Order: sequence, then structure tokens, then C-alpha cells
Amino acid sequence: MKERGSRSAETSAAQRALHTLHGRDPKIFEDPFAVELAGPMGKWFIRPRPTAWLIERAFPWMMPMIAHHLARARYVEERLDQLTGEGLAQYVLLGAGMDSFAFRRPDLADTLTIFEIDHPGTQKRKRRRLGKLGWPEPSHVRYVAVDFETEALRDALMRSDFNREQLSLFAWMGVMPYLTQESIVATLEDVAECAASGSEIVFDTMDRAALTKGKNTPGGRKMFRAAERLGEPMITGFDPPEINQLLAAAGFETLEIVTPEAFTKLWFEGRSDGLAPWEWAYVVRARVC
Ligand SMILES: C[S@@+](CC[C@H](N)C(=O)[O-])C[C@H]1O[C@@H](n2cnc3c(N)ncnc32)[C@H](O)[C@@H]1O
Repeated sequence: MKERGSRSAETSAAQRALHTLHGRDPKIFEDPFAVELAGPMGKWFIRPRPTAWLIERAFPWMMPMIAHHLARARYVEERLDQLTGEGLAQYVLLGAGMDSFAFRRPDLADTLTIFEIDHPGTQKRKRRRLGKLGWPEPSHVRYVAVDFETEALRDALMRSDFNREQLSLFAWMGVMPYLTQESIVATLEDVAECAASGSEIVFDTMDRAALTKGKNTPGGRKMFRAAERLGEPMITGFDPPEINQLLAAAGFETLEIVTPEAFTKLWFEGRSDGLAPWEWAYVVRARVC
């Protein structure tokens, strides 16, 4: 990724903003801070209702991706709420992007330390944006810059006050497809090594077939082309059995694989807008052994 950091982080925030501002009820996930964090895209493109209408009609292929993004965000935060009752002390966002959890949940400021781990370029832009918005950086957030391709997560965590003894939840949302398999494996191994036993990781990935010429759907191909145009090509996918193997080898027990069908049953059935998650992506939850 270039020095300027990730543009897809803003796209992701823009999608949360679109649904929050203009999506139909019942909302899958609400993020009232996303429109500001999405930067100019939020201000000029997402906030006005007509452009939101236009996106739905002109880019229908984006809707399943948006549905997946909303579902993964809701899933991990619901899990966080459950773990909070079991002594969760640290929430580690790997590739945090324009995540606004710290602003949405000030009620957890006294009990939860949040680690926003991200590419230096993306993190710099986010922090500059917070400054411009006049939003003070929450005191329980630690900002740790790392490029997963060139530095070990373990070293980055050691530079911070991450506590290896405390129960942690790692969220790694919308990042894996952009990374090489080597850095994915290394990062998983570092999480397993650094986190207290019983800690969990939740991430999303996509079937290999999505990346295979001739197998993907037209909508998926459009998304890949859009990612390439942003300078962030999607290069890595895994089939569920592979993920199970990778996790076991790294020191995890797979707890749940949430397929698009499972998400549909949970939150999307009977919606009047027909919103449904992308068929190739799925979410995985695993526990550090
Ligand atoms: C699509 S955004 C997802 C952001 C956020 N997790 C979300 O769900 O909205 C991808 C994120 O992965 C991060 N990322 C991509 N490649 C990275 C790398 N090599 N090292 C660190 N972060 C990386 C980007 O900086 C960006 O924040």
C-alpha cells in the first residue's frame, strides 16, 4: 500500500454511513460517526439523499458488499458485548481504518483499552481527520502503526502497553483480502503468541473461487476492479477447510464460521430493500488455545 494509506478504509466508512443515514429500517448496524470519518466522500457523496438513491440504482452490485460490511461489524461488536461480561479488557482492531467504536461506546472507556493497529499512512490520515473534526482522541485508545507486510504484529504490540495477560478480542475486518498469505499466517501466529489464552479473533475472508477467473460473479468482478482502481487489489482468499488448518497450525480453535446464508437467516430475511450479504465472503471466530 502507498504511503498515503488506504482509501478503502474510507469506502468502508462511507458504506456504514450510507446505511445509517439512508438505509431502511430495521437497520443492520448504525454508525453515526462514519459520515464524518469518511471524509470528503461522506460530506459530498453520502450525506445528500439523491446520491444515496443513485448509488442503489447505478451500482446495485455494491449492495451485497455493503450488506456484508454491516453484518461483520455487527457480529464482532455483539461478540464484544458478550465478552465484556466475561472480563474482556482489550479490544484490538487490526486494520482499524475509520472505525468509530471508541466514539460510539464511551461507556466502556473505564474498562476497555482499545488498540487501533493500522498501516502508518491510514492511521496518520485518520488522526489528522480527528484533529480537523475537533474530536479529541479518546484516552483509552492506543494508536499503533504497523505495515503487516513489513513488520511483525508482535513487535508493534510490544511497542504499546498491550497486556499479554488480559482477555482480548481481536477484530480483523476487511483486511485479509489485501494481504499476502505469508503476512496473514505471520499475523495469526503473533496474535496466538501475544494474546492470553481464551482471547478471541474475528475476521472476514472470502472463498478462493471469488478470485478465480471464470468463477466469480459479475458483481464480484466489478468490486475487484474498483479495489484495483483504489490501488488496493484484493489478492488472497481461503476456503473454510484451509482456514481451519491455518488457525489450528497458528494455535487457535475455530469456534464459528458464519456464512452469508447464516447472516441472512440472522438479520436479512424479509427485508423490504432486499439487502443480502455477498455470496463469497464469510466471517470466522476463533479462540486462542
Ligand atoms: C477496507 S479497510 C477496512 C477498515 C476497517 N477494518 C473496516 O472494517 O471498516 C482495510 C484496512 O486494512 C488496512 N491495511 C491494508 N493493508 C495493510 C497492511 N499491509 N498493513 C496494515 N494495515 C493494512 C488499511 O490501512 C485499512 O485500514
